[in-house]
Amino acid sequence: MKFKATLTALCCAVMTCTAASTAEAAKIGVSMPTQALQRWNQDGANMKSELEKAGYEVELLYAGDNDIPTQVNQIENMVAGGCEVLVVAAIDGSALTEALRGAKEKNIPVISYDRLIMNSDAVTYYATFDNYKVGQMQGKFVEDALKLKDGDGVKYTEFFTGPTDDNNVNFFWGGMIEIIQPYLDSGKLVCRSGQTTMAQAATLNWNLEEAQKRMENLIASQGYGPDGGTQLDAVICSNDSTAQGVVNALVGNGYDATNIPLVTGQDCDRPNVKFMKRGLQSMSIFKDTRTLAAQVVKMVDAIVQGKEVPVNDTKTYNNGTGIIPSFLCEPVVGTKANYKELLIDSGYYKEKEI
Ligand code: BGC
Repeated sequence: MKFKATLTALCCAVMTCTAASTAEAAKIGVSMPTQALQRWNQDGANMKSELEKAGYEVELLYAGDNDIPTQVNQIENMVAGGCEVLVVAAIDGSALTEALRGAKEKNIPVISYDRLIMNSDAVTYYATFDNYKVGQMQGKFVEDALKLKDGDGVKYTEFFTGPTDDNNVNFFWGGMIEIIQPYLDSGKLVCRSGQTTMAQAATLNWNLEEAQKRMENLIASQGYGPDGGTQLDAVICSNDSTAQGVVNALVGNGYDATNIPLVTGQDCDRPNVKFMKRGLQSMSIFKDTRTLAAQVVKMVDAIVQGKEVPVNDTKTYNNGTGIIPSFLCEPVVGTKANYKELLIDSGYYKEKEI
């Protein structure tokens, strides 16, 4: 303990650290939903190193693979264990009300990370990417690539999104469908399966295998196929794990880079960047987790120092107990054409990793 305190003091002296001078190694609890998806490992690791650089002690915990009781337990322990601020990426946005009651009682501020925690007045701030814009970008990409605005002829699509207990799904879906719905209405775009609602397109836990199974079923039931099968021009997926399942199913059924439908995604996960390079996935959304982590550290710093917390949206995100002041980071479209600049030149990945 003594060693830790001395080390922190030393770090802060060297780094002219703003936080720790007042925080004296305040303990920050970081709760992440799963280690099964690349993005959350990155989020957790970035957050830990950024917070430690700023002089904080960090308790970073992953809730197994999306195990809600584990996350509830871990949060209760963080509250009991003296964490001064909690940063939580919820598995199920509505399952933490009880667990966070203790935080509220102890006046421990809670930053909802990436996904909004619903129905809890313990949530003080929200830091995320502009989730509605993510959906709009996916919709616009499809609109442009399929020339839906100006082209003649009918195009065919299917939809995949995440679980409806992830509040982000409402925004991803909402942004995407705002762009796409007019074409479904006019008949320029047809979803042969008729599965056009968010609930019908949902994927439990964003699970890759679930998405793959559903795509395989759609291929079988709708007769999609590259050689004499029915036409399929796009599969609009909300994120990269669902896109991976979809691409696996399509490739398993004879599609290749020359004839695969347009597939959208989100996160620029390594396997999906590989798909983009090979022409098997058309786009992904880059959400630089370093930016989000850096933003959250700024918010933590401000909270600990009693300063004004930086937010840029005070009207969009209502968690059922009122509007949660939010900071929205900017998502960017990633494709085969710009991945080098976006992901390699920025140091996010090394070329050999992808
Ligand atoms: C995140 C996405 C991610 C998905 C699955 C969402 O809440 O915003 O970036 O792909 O969860 O983990």
